[in-house]
Amino acid sequence: MTDITVHDKVFTPFIPEDTIRTRVTELAKTISQDYAGKKPLLLGILNGSFIFAADLFRGLTIDAEISFIKLASYKGTSSTGNVVTAIGMEEDIHGRHVILVEDIIDTGKTISSFLPEIHHRQPASVKIATFLKKPDALKYDLQSDYCAFEIENKFVVGYGLDYDGLGRNLPGLFILKD
Ligand code: IMP
Ligand code: MG
Repeated sequence: MTDITVHDKVFTPFIPEDTIRTRVTELAKTISQDYAGKKPLLLGILNGSFIFAADLFRGLTIDAEISFIKLASYKGTSSTGNVVTAIGMEEDIHGRHVILVEDIIDTGKTISSFLPEIHHRQPASVKIATFLKKPDALKYDLQSDYCAFEIENKFVVGYGLDYDGLGRNLPGLFILKD
């Protein structure tokens, strides 16, 4: 595999497509065991998670539902800081077993700011499934229950993740070249 250019930056192959497929299938198997008989609702967070969410969902061997939301942040009062709210949250999640599906947890800010809104709707349980996690970048106390890969603190594209809108359709993961 060769280096690629996205906008003005060069990326090098990092995690190949078949490795991703194997790992995501494995994760789906674990979730299927953990949620047997519970009919979980996967809530994919757009845009980045759509490919991971689709593959993860397809790998589930139990009854499950999927829906997608978009997060928008706006300035709250000075005491609350930035507030993150969900757009397109039509599902009634009251009493449901919710699995939030993310592309990547970087600082953890996005998902942390959104959890209160989720809990406010009184789901039976909430867990997080993320394709990637950058442990060295994490700034919020956050438990991600299912994670496909932990990676170093470098910028990546592919498999749904973008650099300024591009790169999401790359089937494998590419990492920014030094
Ligand atoms: P957080 O709120 O800091 O956890 O940021 C998470 C969001 O930042 C992700 O949903 C991505 O949209 C974006 N992001 C963070 N790191 C990367 C990366 O390496 N590649 C592409 N997007 C990233
Ligand atoms: Mg995202």
